Amino acid sequence: MKKIYVTTPIYYPSGAPHLGSAYTSVACDVYARFKRQDGYDVKFLTGTDEHGLKLQRKAEEQGISPQEYVDKMSNEFRALTEIMHLSNTDFIRTTEPRHHKAAQALWRKLEANGYIYKSTYQGWYSVPDEAYFDEDELTEENGVKLAPSGHKVEWIEEESYFFKLSAFQEKLENLYKTNPNFVQPKNRLNEVKSFVSKGLKDISISRTTFNWGIPVPGDDKHIMYVWIDALTNYLTSDGYPNDWPNPMSHWPATHVVGKDILRFHAVYWPSMLMGADIALPKQIQAHGWWTSEGKKMSKSFNNVVNPKEICDKYGTDQIRYFLLKEVPFGNDGDFSETRLQSRINAELANDIGNLFQRTLSMINKQCDGKIPALLELSDLDKNLFDLAEKTVKNARKSIENFEFHQALESIWTLVSAGNQYMEKTQPWTLKKEQPEQMKHHLRVLMEALRTLALLVEPFMPTAGKNFRKQLGIAENNFAQLETIPNLPVAAVLPPPFGVFPRVEIAEAV
Ligand code: MSP
Repeated sequence: MKKIYVTTPIYYPSGAPHLGSAYTSVACDVYARFKRQDGYDVKFLTGTDEHGLKLQRKAEEQGISPQEYVDKMSNEFRALTEIMHLSNTDFIRTTEPRHHKAAQALWRKLEANGYIYKSTYQGWYSVPDEAYFDEDELTEENGVKLAPSGHKVEWIEEESYFFKLSAFQEKLENLYKTNPNFVQPKNRLNEVKSFVSKGLKDISISRTTFNWGIPVPGDDKHIMYVWIDALTNYLTSDGYPNDWPNPMSHWPATHVVGKDILRFHAVYWPSMLMGADIALPKQIQAHGWWTSEGKKMSKSFNNVVNPKEICDKYGTDQIRYFLLKEVPFGNDGDFSETRLQSRINAELANDIGNLFQRTLSMINKQCDGKIPALLELSDLDKNLFDLAEKTVKNARKSIENFEFHQALESIWTLVSAGNQYMEKTQPWTLKKEQPEQMKHHLRVLMEALRTLALLVEPFMPTAGKNFRKQLGIAENNFAQLETIPNLPVAAVLPPPFGVFPRVEIAEAV
């Protein structure tokens, strides 16, 4: 079986999960589910990044140990799996022994290959970003130096181990040239290239002034820089370093990350892997950032979208749909409840919901709930079948490129074609005079519904399953879509039920 490995970043459990964390995870999940339905063996990893000064300070603020703090907070991220209906096959915590071992093994390998040396670090560090910055990357406000993220930086002077990032400049430039799809979308690759072309300096990869992290092997006074530790998680979960790679492993992975952490994944990580003689990731997909009701999500604006609350209010499928339909992956997006409500009513309740409901109710009432037989196919019928076939191909191509909104556009073209077919053929007008013709049209529609049910399932797992149930389809693999028509004539279907209720749109105040 062909293998796929897709990862979310591991989240800092320094606060409750918000829409941003849910977004990356949902995108990876749709990709994972789609590929599974398409016959791949998919490994899907998510988890929490639990070391570093930021988390140590958070724990201190609450008067508990860092371990107690991350144990508590990590569970909130684990709960996202249930809340967002994620199908991850592993959840990694960097405080687990398996990870401790992998991070130390990778360090030793880099050291053995001559890419780690000891010296002294002097420079600026932003704790919220857990990142080092050069003087020329900083801005100043009222005498306070700020990182590009707007967070305050601190001056650090300490003995430190360094990673010879400078040794990889040419190799990286070569990589971006020979594999221009390594970073997607293209404009993000250009950012990375321009960063690398300015010249790479060696990076500090250990700290001595706090201790919440993985010790440097052979020198316990130092703990690993949290990003070196964190990036290794993608290997840990695949079984590194024990007898790895092996026929069970899934590496190389496709990493899905927010634009803010692209540099770590597209510059540092491939260098570390090259330095350790490990195969490079397949691809890095960078997505944009969400604001909420037009503003940066922040407690002070009271506009932080809580995944559990919003899913409880509108339904998990509906939120998943909105997140992937509202903006092209890669672009920034704004979360607005008004737009969410109108998409639910127009695209889910009206467009697709009604198409299923109307067709299945007529089958239930006019055909004794049995799948009708087809008569000879007209051009109109054939066109709908052709479009169904084309839609599967289009969706496949879009998903391969992480163009989720495009995949949904294609699927909705078939939804519209189904609705047009219904309007043109008006099966309800034929029930007395031409009952066989009526049944034929309903059956043609059912074939389009079959394709739709299977294609929406990766996006909206519950709705997809419910649609399938109503059509009497047990399996969700795409292989069955290669044959149209493909439903068993005279099979008895369960009574239909609504899948997408309308939401009440609140009056604008
Ligand atoms: N722990 C590191 C990642 C290590 S991966 C080896 C980290 N964690 S994070 O919790 O700060 O961010 C995790 C992801 O959430 C990032 O990809 C980031 O881009 C994403 N988002 C955080 N806020 C977001 C929005 N408002 N919108 C979209 N994604 C956002 O960085």
